[in-house]
Amino acid sequence: MADATGGEFYEENFEPRAYLDDYFNLGKDGAGNEYLKLTLPHFCKAFGPGGLSGDTLIDIGSGPTIYQLLSSCEAYKEITPTDYSKRNRQELEKWLKKESGAFDWTPVVKFVCDLEGNRTSVTEKEEKLRRVVKQVLPCDILKTNPLEPLLVPQFDCVLSSLCLEGACKTHDEVCSAVKNMSNLSKPGGHLVLCGDISCSHYQVGDVMFSALVMNEEILRKAVSEAGYTIDSLELTSRDDPKVMQETTDFTGIYFMVAHKT
Ligand SMILES: C[S@@+](CC[C@H](N)C(=O)[O-])C[C@H]1O[C@@H](n2cnc3c(N)ncnc32)[C@H](O)[C@@H]1O
Repeated sequence: MADATGGEFYEENFEPRAYLDDYFNLGKDGAGNEYLKLTLPHFCKAFGPGGLSGDTLIDIGSGPTIYQLLSSCEAYKEITPTDYSKRNRQELEKWLKKESGAFDWTPVVKFVCDLEGNRTSVTEKEEKLRRVVKQVLPCDILKTNPLEPLLVPQFDCVLSSLCLEGACKTHDEVCSAVKNMSNLSKPGGHLVLCGDISCSHYQVGDVMFSALVMNEEILRKAVSEAGYTIDSLELTSRDDPKVMQETTDFTGIYFMVAHKT
């Protein structure tokens, strides 16, 4: 397949609303739905009681989604979502500002509240997330300072979900991108990375995106070369990788927690 990755391709072709409708409707059966159900328990465990916590967290390549922040919003005082694409940032702002036409995340928020033992209600969690997000910033993970031209204090936690696969064209670029993430991290700060295993493509609306195929070896290499020590790396397989294979061909997910040494 022709190369269809990288920030510019996303800026031009990635339709945020189609992505949300295709992959984040919990009621609908499908591969995206499965991705959510596989990853949310990991987020819940990582940021739950006794887990990671601190003052500041940055999410790299947030896209138009909030699912990846629903557990960490209970553990960090300030969260900064970021993305290369302006349309993605606008779609996210729409939800944060409760504008009309914003995507309805309620079923996903309810799923997370249930996973967390209903310590908070759906409304409380949505309000909490809206409160801790102070700003949504542009970002290019392939730059040494991904927030260029901004210079901001380093973060307690750097999170990124499904971004490396779309932003990077080669495994060398993955190594550079993770190094760039580490530039945003305080010494001792945490890195939480999750994404697809063995995914070469996924469709959003009518557009097929190519993805950089990730595996355990490249993840371990990139993270350790960037000065992190891995605390946990879990790989979870899909029940049936053939479901929706023409739409996306991921075989499972990875979820890694590391700290900067
Ligand atoms: C598959 S989406 C993932 C969105 C969201 N994090 C999620 O988990 O669903 C990939 C995201 O990476 C962003 N992206 C692509 N290239 C990037 C770059 N160089 N720097 C930062 N973000 C980038 C895209 O705009 C897109 O929002």
